[in-house]
Amino acid sequence: MGGDKRSHTISSLFLFFFLLSIPYPTIARKSSVSDNSSSSQHVVKYSPVDNYLIDCGSPEATVFSDGRSFRSDAQSASLLSTSENIQASVTSLSNSTTSNVSSSLLSSLPLYKTARIFGDESTYTFFISRTGRHWIRLYFFPLPHSLYNLTTATFSVITDSNVLLHDFSLPNNSYVLKEYLINVTSNRFSLKFQPQSKSIAFINAIEVVSAPDTLITDTATTVSPAGSFNGLNNYALEVSYRLNVGGPPLTPYNDTLGRTWEPDSSFIKSPILAQNVSVSPKTVEYPSTGASPFIAPNLVYSTANEMAMANVTEPNFNITWELKVDSTFSYLIRLHFCDIVSKDLNDLYFNVYVNGMTGVASLDLSTLAGSLRTAYYQDFVVNTTQIVDGKIMVEVGPASNTAGSGTPNAILNGLEVMKMSNEASSLDGLYTPDGSYMGSTFTKLKIAAAIGLAMGVMAMLMLATVFVRWQKRPPDWERRKSFSSWLLPIHATGHSSFMSSKSWSRGGLGSKSKNKNGSKNGNSGLYSSALGLGRSFTFAELKEATRNFDEKAVIGVGGFGKVYLGEIGEDETKLAIKRGNPSSEQGITEFQTEIQMLSKLRHRHLVSLIGYCDENSEMILVYEHMANGPLRDHLYGSNLTPLSWKQRLEICIGAARGLHYLHTGAAQGIIHRDVKTTNILLDENFVAKVSDFGLSKTGPTALQTHVSTAVKGSFGYLDPEYFRRQQLTEKSDVYSFGVVLFEVLCARPAINPALPREQVNLAEWAMQWHRKGLLEKIIDSHLQGTISSGSLKKYVEAAEKCLAEYGVDRPSMGDVLWNLEYALQLQEVSTKIDPPEDNSDLITLQLRREKDQNDDHASTTPATVAVNDDSGIVNSTLFSQIGGFQGR
Ligand SMILES: *[C@@H]1O[C@H](CO)[C@@H](O)[C@H](O)[C@H]1NC(C)=O
Ligand SMILES: *[C@@H]1O[C@H](CO)[C@@H](O)[C@H](O)[C@H]1NC(C)=O
Ligand SMILES: *[C@@H]1O[C@H](CO)[C@@H](O)[C@H](O)[C@H]1NC(C)=O
Repeated sequence: MGGDKRSHTISSLFLFFFLLSIPYPTIARKSSVSDNSSSSQHVVKYSPVDNYLIDCGSPEATVFSDGRSFRSDAQSASLLSTSENIQASVTSLSNSTTSNVSSSLLSSLPLYKTARIFGDESTYTFFISRTGRHWIRLYFFPLPHSLYNLTTATFSVITDSNVLLHDFSLPNNSYVLKEYLINVTSNRFSLKFQPQSKSIAFINAIEVVSAPDTLITDTATTVSPAGSFNGLNNYALEVSYRLNVGGPPLTPYNDTLGRTWEPDSSFIKSPILAQNVSVSPKTVEYPSTGASPFIAPNLVYSTANEMAMANVTEPNFNITWELKVDSTFSYLIRLHFCDIVSKDLNDLYFNVYVNGMTGVASLDLSTLAGSLRTAYYQDFVVNTTQIVDGKIMVEVGPASNTAGSGTPNAILNGLEVMKMSNEASSLDGLYTPDGSYMGSTFTKLKIAAAIGLAMGVMAMLMLATVFVRWQKRPPDWERRKSFSSWLLPIHATGHSSFMSSKSWSRGGLGSKSKNKNGSKNGNSGLYSSALGLGRSFTFAELKEATRNFDEKAVIGVGGFGKVYLGEIGEDETKLAIKRGNPSSEQGITEFQTEIQMLSKLRHRHLVSLIGYCDENSEMILVYEHMANGPLRDHLYGSNLTPLSWKQRLEICIGAARGLHYLHTGAAQGIIHRDVKTTNILLDENFVAKVSDFGLSKTGPTALQTHVSTAVKGSFGYLDPEYFRRQQLTEKSDVYSFGVVLFEVLCARPAINPALPREQVNLAEWAMQWHRKGLLEKIIDSHLQGTISSGSLKKYVEAAEKCLAEYGVDRPSMGDVLWNLEYALQLQEVSTKIDPPEDNSDLITLQLRREKDQNDDHASTTPATVAVNDDSGIVNSTLFSQIGGFQGR
């Protein structure tokens, strides 16, 4: 064993220097050879380039009969970094407690016998010689220990870009193998164990192992509508189930890639309808493309379940497998087929259903695989909306009425279900790798309830403070525009100048300038936070204001609940009253988030929170009423007077200011995540204010119905880079704002499924016309001839940059703002020269200027932002891909 250890260390050292000394292409070629050579052989082991196997806490290496050698704790110490006050410990399990475990588990049992315990955040860092998909396997078993109770350990496991486990804990006596397929894109991969405060973390064994490139392709099939899903490479995967249908359990020893396969018997809905069949594994063939021994070993393809004909008179039924899953995630489902039941070609045709929807109608293995006993597989993606009752259901049944041809039968040889990472890049909950909470779907009720309670107590304390201050207010408080007036802005809405309109980007903070604490965000003290919470309304007050929440007073509906128009006080001040649905658990966090967020943020171009009501477990937020409603209503789909170009520019500038403030003004940048024309509201003077920040809506609007809930944001506005890499930055808002700019210019929805395919997506379509130099043809007909060419050019330039493929190429909101203001200036200058009535002249002038500018276009860009000119093209392919998933 000692010799093994040494040779292992030596070979990895050698590999390391080897990698340092040879140019990259050589490595690539080397590994692709090792990928391909296998498809001609049947029992092959893959030699992974990266192969880290660690038996944590073990005093010595653990070597398996298949040759895998797990390093001891000491041998892996160099990979681990922990903070100084760590209490590391080794613990081990006696052989006696391991009776009664399943056979597949038995094979890896030695790994569970020791563990390493972390008292503080600790990270394993691995050098990755070849980027691509890697298996991450984590072995957990809460061993008994004299000092630490591992069954109460609660911790998270986080990689550089994904959350694998969030606040994870294990019940007594549970052996857990968590298996992931992560696309590692850099040469360092880290695995962070993060105990919850006052808790500990532990791990029994770790594998970080290269997987063949061919294992997961970028595309899969979608069901309902049938189509293709692209971009699988952007998702981290967690193996939920891997079943060897109709066959025995398979251990890492039996598998080409060290996988474990469970038998399927406990997942078949009516076992009486299925019977197992098998052939000699050696007779299984692999085609030259597609399935390979890496996709699944021949032991999987050589067994199957087929329809049990003997039990029925009429062979017309489905065999059904049901697997419990978490319906807040999308899943990748891989079905393995191999016709081991037919005597001749073209005798077996059957239907495949996934979650009740047709996956493949009349699957014809003879044609697909080319010969009998030949492996074939197909991948399907189902999104959250397609998962009913928290289960994945796979059904196979004979294709009906195939005109006498074929024996009615249906088979399945293998079934894999993999969870896909969500919008938070997480495979467990909605916390992103950097710890921020995303979205509204509620995962950890108890925690939120605790937070809610804590916040409630805090709110009461703050209110008490506020109340005392309010009692002590000076008699002339209203005139002094001091804090108190700010505390109750409801009185100020009458004289809307209470916030100086000069206080642009730091806006609302201007009004806080009397706050002597001098901190930049003005929120650090209890003092101002208390103020931020606004006024507490009584339920009776709000009930009266909305005439008992009259349906006629509803002015909007969101995932959170309904928004009512209310009138309050003697002066009948209008308010927007958002009432959370008390039965929705999701609401609690949103409610907290919204109050928290809004209390931090004050800006002329953000919708102000006036107060709230939490009586009788109500969750009601009271906002200033925005008399002119959403921007979208003024662009299309209503009978409102069309806005002039100048008005539109001013509105865009206002919204850009609001977003700029969100990104830069607050203590930490805040990403809106759902910038769209329905979230830009207009007050009585058409001043634009951004709304709904911090409040994630779950309720789809009419246009959102096709949005996969796995991706937060609204389809059509969604940053393609965010979609691909699931890394959210403020540049995602910039992208969405670019779409808004085109929406304002062209007066049509971001997505209009009723239009011909190439026109469905506004961003894509507008960029096409822009590249052809014909953008004028698609601008809102109400604007035709009223826009000065300089202004239009500047505006489109800004919009185009916002839509850049990569976030880094997009301008900041500040730059966008600058461009829009410039566009406004150009418009104002031109209207002084050319009166808008004189349309014909304006157009000719426009064309002439356009021509002049094209002649020396290099010198006409005063903006300092780098632009990728091809971006739109790449962009549009991505969008059609997303379109393929959602729409076709
Ligand atoms: C196949 O079916 C037979 C009897 O129907 C059963 O005894 C056997 O255990 C089954 N094999 C597997 C692998 O499920
Ligand atoms: C799988 O491997 C185990 C050893 O771990 C062996 O006993 C078993 O027979 C193998 N199963 C098959 C089907 O080859
Ligand atoms: C098989 O399942 C599909 C989908 O659930 C269903 O539409 C079909 O009617 C079923 N076929 C039979 C014969 O029950």
